[in-house]
Amino acid sequence: MTLAELIPTLGGSLRGHLEPGIWPRSTAHGVDGDLLLGGVPLTQLAARFGTPAYLLDELTVRQHCRDYRSALPDVEIAYAGKSMINRGVLRWIAEEGLSLDVCSAGELAVARAVAFPASRIIFHGNVKTPEDLKAAVAYGVDRIVVDSLDEIEQLGALARYPQNVLIRVTPGVDGHTHRAIATGVEDQKFGFSLASGAAAEAVGRVLAQPSLRLVGLHCHIGSQISRVASFEEAARRMVAFMAALHVQYGISLPQLDLGGGHAVPYRCGDPSFDLHGYADRILRAVNFECSSHQLPLPRLTIEPGRAIIAAAGITLYRVVTVKHGVSRTFVAVDGGMSDNPRPSLYGARYSVRPVGRHFSAISRSATVVGRHCEAGDIVAEDVPLPSDLRAGDLLAVPCTGAYHHSLASNYNMVGRPPVVSVRDGSAHLLIRRETEDDLLSRDLG
Ligand SMILES: Cc1ncc(COP(=O)(O)O)c(C=O)c1O
Repeated sequence: MTLAELIPTLGGSLRGHLEPGIWPRSTAHGVDGDLLLGGVPLTQLAARFGTPAYLLDELTVRQHCRDYRSALPDVEIAYAGKSMINRGVLRWIAEEGLSLDVCSAGELAVARAVAFPASRIIFHGNVKTPEDLKAAVAYGVDRIVVDSLDEIEQLGALARYPQNVLIRVTPGVDGHTHRAIATGVEDQKFGFSLASGAAAEAVGRVLAQPSLRLVGLHCHIGSQISRVASFEEAARRMVAFMAALHVQYGISLPQLDLGGGHAVPYRCGDPSFDLHGYADRILRAVNFECSSHQLPLPRLTIEPGRAIIAAAGITLYRVVTVKHGVSRTFVAVDGGMSDNPRPSLYGARYSVRPVGRHFSAISRSATVVGRHCEAGDIVAEDVPLPSDLRAGDLLAVPCTGAYHHSLASNYNMVGRPPVVSVRDGSAHLLIRRETEDDLLSRDLG
């Protein structure tokens, strides 16, 4: 709970304050209650691109890439494209020297459209359709992360030697995150279990495929994880498994991919991820385990998505109506679960800030709701908002760069918002707003 939630009368004075860590780095105060992003006033962006709109601060994305590269200079950093993918973002990622993780032929098509180097692409997915596998092989992606015995056979038949392969292992580590995004624990759909022996069997199957070259192992224990100890434990188990494979098959695997999942704070006071602590503990753990098992050090890869792009984004909404319920005030906006399903999927909580004019009234707790036909269509629950907020006002919701546009839907036939990047005082449309013609173009009557 924020201070303003605890003491509503403080809301007015705290409104001048931008909570650190959850707003894009270029966010600044403008005139008359406005905010600037990349030097552009949010009111101007709303007028030019309409609302709702996803805004993206290019400099924040680039800075996060640089933060990762400098914290882990010898580790391959692969951006997880599922968090937010479009040509503009992939160009920045490529220019910053990151690799790319894709998990479908569609995501690969975006990478292909910007000629993202195949040598820096890793192809994932617990279900890869024949079309996915064909697209991955045709583009010559460097690594395919196999996830089932069926896939090993299918890929073996399709690929030409040497198709580099990683095996996705479920290390049995709890990342202490939401159930829906915990992928390191046993008994679920991702990867091959370490404990059951399935992972060792998968290694044998890959080695038996003449077209495949096993180059390493992969694990991803989940998303929005702030406990570095969970990543460290996964790394230890993976190296111990590499040592066991050395004994069983006489192989030394040269690569270890530890996945992504690094947490970001969505609201002031949320736990943040200690990147330098992570770098230190992971490298120590891998060095220690390798030397105690007398294994050569593998090349490490990590795959952050959210940590690169979440805090670069702001969603801008316009208030359509303010309604007073029996015990709550509802502020209804022109978007909702179609542009951000995270509150209904994971109970995600957000901070909200009114922009574009001075609000002098005290703050009261309000629930920001969307336009969709579900009671669970909530943008932000129980947030302090000025009591003089009214229809037509603008609301900015920070930390919406990751898993917002990529999870968006057309529920209620609402077109998806545009993605607008800003930098150095100018704005650029990366993805235009979806129109009614777009929506009807797939309906063949
Ligand atoms: C295999 C894999 N790598 C990386 C990621 C990125 O996770 P995050 O965006 O939480 O860093 C995911 C997310 O689901 C994933 O499945």
